[in-house]
Amino acid sequence: MASEALQRYQQAYNLSLSDPESFWGNVAGELTWERPWDKVLDTGSTPHGRWFVGGEINTCYNALDRHVEAGRGEQTALIYDSPVTGNRTVTFSYRELRDLVARFAGALVEKGVGKGDRVIIYMPMIPETVIAMLACARIGAVHSVVFGGFAANELAVRIDDARPELIVTASCGIEVNRIIPYLPLLNEAIELAEHRPDRVIIVQREQHPVELKPGRDSDWLEVMAAATPTGCTPLQATDPLYILYTSGTTGVPKGVVRDNGGHAVALNWSMQAIYGVDAGDVYWAASDVGWVVGHSYIVYGPLLRGCTTVLYEGKPVGTPDAGAFWRVIAEHGVKALFTAPTAFRAIKKEDPEARLLERYDLSRFETLFLAGERTDPDTLIWAQDKLGVPVIDHWWQTETGWSIAANHRGMGLLPVKPGSPTRPSPGWALSALDEQGQVLPPGRVGALCARLPMPPGSLLTLWNAEQRFVDSYLAEFPGYYKTADAGYLDEDGYVFVMSRTDDIINVAGHRLSTGGMEEVLASHPDVAECAVVGVADSLKGQLPVGFLVLKAGVTRQAEDIVTDVVKLVRERIGPVAAFKQATVVPRLPKTRSGKILRGTIQKIADNQEYRMPATIDDPQILEEITSALRELGLADARRD
Ligand code: COA
Ligand code: AMP
Repeated sequence: MASEALQRYQQAYNLSLSDPESFWGNVAGELTWERPWDKVLDTGSTPHGRWFVGGEINTCYNALDRHVEAGRGEQTALIYDSPVTGNRTVTFSYRELRDLVARFAGALVEKGVGKGDRVIIYMPMIPETVIAMLACARIGAVHSVVFGGFAANELAVRIDDARPELIVTASCGIEVNRIIPYLPLLNEAIELAEHRPDRVIIVQREQHPVELKPGRDSDWLEVMAAATPTGCTPLQATDPLYILYTSGTTGVPKGVVRDNGGHAVALNWSMQAIYGVDAGDVYWAASDVGWVVGHSYIVYGPLLRGCTTVLYEGKPVGTPDAGAFWRVIAEHGVKALFTAPTAFRAIKKEDPEARLLERYDLSRFETLFLAGERTDPDTLIWAQDKLGVPVIDHWWQTETGWSIAANHRGMGLLPVKPGSPTRPSPGWALSALDEQGQVLPPGRVGALCARLPMPPGSLLTLWNAEQRFVDSYLAEFPGYYKTADAGYLDEDGYVFVMSRTDDIINVAGHRLSTGGMEEVLASHPDVAECAVVGVADSLKGQLPVGFLVLKAGVTRQAEDIVTDVVKLVRERIGPVAAFKQATVVPRLPKTRSGKILRGTIQKIADNQEYRMPATIDDPQILEEITSALRELGLADARRD
């Protein structure tokens, strides 16, 4: 069985690299095109490749209308399950969803939004968010969804970069039992931004109705009632579908741009090949539409394939208990669940024996997929034992849009090696490279890089920042895409992802820049210099910890300054940064050239062995860091 699966995988993988045009060209035929492509892959204009050049397609048509026209209009497209509102389940058939999307698309047109215009969607996990995204896709407007847990400043940065014509938002989000009013954040963001959009559409939620600002704001229900439904605009396959901002190495986020054609082809294929689901199956990605997982696998992937997708406005624990995921799986007949390992660690912490599972019938559940951070073997084995289904770790990034490496359920599963997301997905010619760009032999850790061109669905560029795109991803290893993850491939071709090579950390599956947090700490008037490192956390994977060196002559209490900076990060970046710990130290360990030794601090905090850096000025500094960490209850350092 395993060897048959291996053969099938190997065949697909080899073909995808030896003849990508034939591999992806075949797959693309499953979708409906307004005009066939002239060329499957064009590498003439860019080294990373442009897919389905000359082809015309509409992603919304393929995600909705196509299924209605094929006779599946009455099938459920979307299940909205919201324990936080007590309003557990609302379903939308493909026909209903198409009609709502066509109507909202009409509303956007009437508000002056056209092809190529940007629309920022700052929304909680409600059906209107999905409707707004698909409505943009329908008319060729470029959406940019901003996660609700970001602060006004982060929203302002995105508004200034994307320069939207219009913003769609809601009156509030709901975090377990806490209302998060959105309008104060939005108003502050517009105030902070240089680009000030003058049209806002607001979904009024009964939990927190708001007063609308005359002349700027419109009520969602009113614009829907007045709108004329509109059809799908044919778009170039290479036209942008969306921009999704993700953390870069500085406080300025990167606007990942996705196209229409390649994206639809790759996601439609991945639903079957990777997730093993097909039209009519219920698929659930327990993430947030503000992240790439939400874009690809709450909205576009499942709908392109004709599945039923679940939109869950709740948490793995606390809404109301650690059996929440089992309830959703049982009630809706979920076949495949995709979430982050941290969600399973949260469940395991509250219900280590998974006793709540006994209340639910999970007989239709077939596979659990985990990504967003490395799946630690304990969590993998716990989930496998308790659920009795395969648990698949797969590795990908906002930039790639879908898996770089996975165990492909639809091709037959390969044996699992705990700690590895298995083997590269078709289209990904992955290697570990040394500093000179030479391919390393099996087992040797290096920079994980993919030979160009990247497969369809990967980022086209960074919004308004082509040079930053080249510098960030393509320049260091010519001919390759640099993932910025370090790791290795073993002798069986299994991939092991070890750590980031930049200052990105992963907190509860959320990607955050420590550099961005350092910029906030450094803006405090009493702080002379600072460092933020991600330390290991048994629930969230990593948590940021700040180290502050105060300016000479500062007399305020250290704890007051720590309170200030914690508050500042929450205000400027948002609660999602989970920045709650900082400490004042006399100085920071640095190399002689002045580079802060963040890696060494991290090792001390995580109680890992570390080497005394040869370049360090004064070894006593590390003792100071160790004792500061001990006071935070973090380190008990060992040195070899
Ligand atoms: N709007 C406003 N605030 C938000 C928010 C949103 N959409 N999402 C999170 N926050 C807030 C939380 O309320 C919390 O605030 P607090 O500091 O006042 O408690 C803070 O941001 C941190 O949130 P989170 O990291 O989610 O921690 P948590 O303690 O609330 O929950 C888990 C922990 C593990 C249950 C939760 O992180 C989880 O479900 N993770 C799943 C992972 C996931 O979806 N990853 C996406 C990629 S697959
Ligand atoms: P994001 O862009 O938010 O999806 O974050 C991408 C980063 O998360 C990757 O570059 C990795 O560092 C990490 N990541 C995601 N999935 C995995 C995985 N399965 N194993 C290890 N790291 C992962």
